[in-house]
Parts: sequence; structure tokens; C-alpha cells
Amino acid sequence: MRVSDTSDLWWKTAVVYCLDVETFLDWNGDGTGDLQGLAQRIDYLNSLGVTCLWLMPFYPTPDRDDGYDITDFYGVDSRLGTHGDLVEAIRTAKDRGMRVIADLVVNHTSHRHPWFRSARASRSSPYRDYYVWRDEPPADQTAPTFPDQEDSVWTYDERAGQHYLHRFYRQQPDLNVANPAVRNEIAKVMGFWLEMGLSGFRVDAVPFFLETLGVDGGEVSFPEPHEYLRALRSFMGRRVGDAVLLGEVNLPHEEQLKFFGGTDGDELTMQFDFIAMQQMYLSLARRDARPLASALLSRPTTSPDSQWATFVRNHDELTLDKLSEAERQEVFDAFGPEPEMQVYGRGLTRRLPPMLNGDPRRIRMVYSLLFSLPGTPVLFYGEEIGMGENLAAGGRLAVRTPMQWTAQKNGGFSTAAPSRLAGPVVEGGFSPEHVNVDAQRRDPDSLLHFMTLLIRRYRDCPELGWGRFAVLEQPYDAVLAHSCTWDSACLIAVHNLGPEPLTVPLTLAGLDSSATLVDLLCHGSTAVAQNGSAEIMLEGYGFRWLRVVHPDDRRLL
Ligand code: GLC
Repeated sequence: MRVSDTSDLWWKTAVVYCLDVETFLDWNGDGTGDLQGLAQRIDYLNSLGVTCLWLMPFYPTPDRDDGYDITDFYGVDSRLGTHGDLVEAIRTAKDRGMRVIADLVVNHTSHRHPWFRSARASRSSPYRDYYVWRDEPPADQTAPTFPDQEDSVWTYDERAGQHYLHRFYRQQPDLNVANPAVRNEIAKVMGFWLEMGLSGFRVDAVPFFLETLGVDGGEVSFPEPHEYLRALRSFMGRRVGDAVLLGEVNLPHEEQLKFFGGTDGDELTMQFDFIAMQQMYLSLARRDARPLASALLSRPTTSPDSQWATFVRNHDELTLDKLSEAERQEVFDAFGPEPEMQVYGRGLTRRLPPMLNGDPRRIRMVYSLLFSLPGTPVLFYGEEIGMGENLAAGGRLAVRTPMQWTAQKNGGFSTAAPSRLAGPVVEGGFSPEHVNVDAQRRDPDSLLHFMTLLIRRYRDCPELGWGRFAVLEQPYDAVLAHSCTWDSACLIAVHNLGPEPLTVPLTLAGLDSSATLVDLLCHGSTAVAQNGSAEIMLEGYGFRWLRVVHPDDRRLL
């Protein structure tokens, strides 16, 4: 049921799709994807059922960190197009009912940003305090995020005569958000892009820039760092009431609650659930659903307006940093045993289908899980067709290869010579010859069609985005049976993470034989016995979505 005061909380039931313009579609044939190419594919994304695009950084950049090192927060990388092209793409998306959000990088700039150039040139520069400087690096240093490339988060700058803080590459000096002038700049940047038509931001590296409020000895006008997040949210809300902040916060669930603003829900609107994602891989490796179930149950209670974003992988390494060392090793052994499949000692550089040896049953089961877990699903481009990775690209770039549109040269991504492409195309069994949109659009049994069905059903079931989550008792460790209940609607999903077919007995509190469980992904229904129990058959790696239907139900099934 639609309730009027819930309909503007669009993010609760959104389907988010992350893409990098640079690797999506090259329309002018120069080897780099562009905004005109993106505009050409908005209808494709619309027919997949996507409701919100997340654009990875499209700002001018020397590209040390794939665009996350920005030289102009107001600019558009000229290789991708112009502001005009961006506005056209946003307008086209909006016309099809899709919102667009983009990365907001508050934590740092590029070292080539004019602010940093000026800051390092002189201690009296008005921009000196935009960054964090020290004569001597502190003794208790945090570890660098990219330990294969950096051995400290402080680098001495000859010109400046001081060390500066950088949690990521040395080419990404951290901004000093304790400085009110920096906070003003960030607010202006947000205001600018909201006026250009964005519906919010994916906020990069949130805990890192909040920590900076505690690092600098300078003027800190916030009594505590979370007040800054609250200020960002309320500023955004004043400009565009239903805009969202989707935060990257890879921390334990209890800590994430603080980044939502507790149960007040006045900080980040949404956060990725890194904990459930990591436990899901442990569950897949063990063929045991319990780690995933307990991760989901350990989510703290949030405001009803806050939302968890669920995902199978993002554009970075598939981080397993919140698993124990032994657990991480189990996942490495199962899904990425070779050194070139691992990075930073904590993550995998592979996409899901190759990790599962291309087994279509398991791949579909994982995406069925993704779309039936409580929260808002986020897809990374190419997941809908089962793209693989190119390990030769190295590190995180292995999963940022060009989108595979056709079986033709460069996977239909570009007409340029392969040597000029923004990244190497996937080779081998997952190359465009075998995995591409064009072929899958014509094949009703394709992964693309299956994903479209999942997305449609997810959108039909607002209880998945809104509902109360419960794990249902049943006897098998390999099985996750869960329900999401909201208003009078209830969806039950049952997933078998193991290879053996199973008959799963479920006892459904509050149900009697007047209810029927109707399959939403295939034809079929299951009767509920007088005592409220039902038996669900599952193939090996099988899954079912069951709508609890009462005789007077008027929902479309
Ligand atoms: C985030 C991004 C990652 C980037 C880093 C520094 O973690 O997801 O891609 O390298 O921030 O901006």
C-alpha cells in the first residue's frame, strides 16, 4: 500500500546503479566513455528498472585515483564532455523517472588543485589552512589506506617545508574540514550540483574526514564531529528536500548508527552495509547462511527514514577487512586464491561470476538474495549481465573495465583502437564475445532478463525497502529463510546456499490455512497448514520469493 507521507522517501525503495562515465559508452570514438554515451543508454537503464544513477567522479582530475583526486569541484572532465552534456544526461534520466546522484569527495583534493598549489607555496596563503600540516608527523599514525603504495599518511612537502596529511595516495592531500572556510566551500559545491539537477551524493570516505575534525589543532567550532554531518544534511535538505546522502562508512554496525544520526536519522540518509556484504561472502564460501543471518540481525534500529544500501560488490576492492584473519583466508581460498586476485591484504579484485566459476544457479541465487534483503540494492555496472574482471589491469582497475555492449570490437564500448581505451576489455570466458548486453537482450533466459525480473519484483514489494526483517526458524544451516513485513504486506524469501536440494519446513507465526504463499519469481503456490506451517522445496542453490496472500488481497501478483 502506498501511504502519502512515504512516497517522497524515494530512496527506501530505489534501485541504484553505479557507473563510471569513463568506462560506460564512448560516443565520440576517442577511447574514453563520455556523457553523450551515457545519455544514449538511459533507456537501457530505465528498462532494466534502475531508479537512481550514481555517477562516479566526473570532475577534472590527473587520474591518480581514477577520478577521486579532483582539481576542480565545479568542473566536468573535458574528456567526458561539458556541463551541457551532463545536464542533458541528467535531464534525460529525470524524464524517464530516474534520479541522479554523484560522488562528493570532502576528504581531499588532488595535489594539483589550485588550493593545494597555493597552500604549499606559502605559509601566508589563504589556502594554507585548507589542509592539515605538521612540522613533525605525530608518533601515533593511522595506517595508510593503500599500503602497497604508501607507507605513511604524512608526506613532507619541500616547497611547504611541512608534512601534510593524506589518508589515501600522497597525491590526495586531506582537506581540513575543521576550517570553517573549507566547510563553506563544500556547502557551495553541494549547492552548485543540486542546482544542476542532482538528487544527492554518494559521500566518499565519511569517517576519514570526520576524523580530521579531531586531528587539527586549529579552530574547531563543532563540539563533536557528527555535528558537521548533521550540518551537511540539513544544508542539503534546505536546498532540495528529498535529496540523499549515501555514505561510505565501512565500520561496525553500532558505529554506523552514529553516522545515521542515531534514531533521529538526521545525518547520512543511507549507508552501505559493508558488514552484511562481507558476511555474505563468508556464508557463500562456507555454504552456510548463518554468518549473513547474524550480520543482518545485528543491524541496529534506525529511524524509519534511514536506509541500508545492500550490494554484492562496488568499484573498489571487495573488502573483507571486517572478517577475522581466518575468515578472510577462507574467502580468499574459496574465491580468490591467487595473489593477483587479492589486494591490500584485505580484499579481492574479482567480480562475482568468475568467483563462482560462472555457475548460473549460484550467480542468480546471490542476486536473488541481494534484491530480497531488507534495504536498497546498489548495482555496479555490468553486474546485470554477469561481467567478469581483467586481472591484468591490476588492483582495483581489474573490475573497472569497459562495459560490454556487444560481441564486437571493444565490446561495443568504443570504436577507437584497443590501445586507446580508458581501460582494457575483459578477456577469456567472460569477454564481450561471451558476455554482452546485445545477446542477452535477445535471450529470455539470460541473466539480464532475470535481473530485470528481480528488479521489477523488488519494486513491487515495498516491504523489502520498508519492512521489519525477521529470520525464520528452519533446520538447515545452508538456508536463509527470512521475511520482510510492512503495513499488511509480507514477503518470505528462502535461499539455499548449498548444492543439495532441500525441503524446508517453515513455521509462520500468525498465519493459518486461510493464507497461501504465492511464488513471485515463477509460477506456483504453497498451501499453509492449519498450524501455520508450510514446506518449501528448494533446488541446490535454489531460491523462492513467496508473497503471503490472504483471500481478500487485492495486490497484483
Ligand atoms: C573511496 C572510494 C575509492 C577512493 C577513495 C579515495 O574509498 O570508493 O575508490 O580511492 O575513497 O577517494
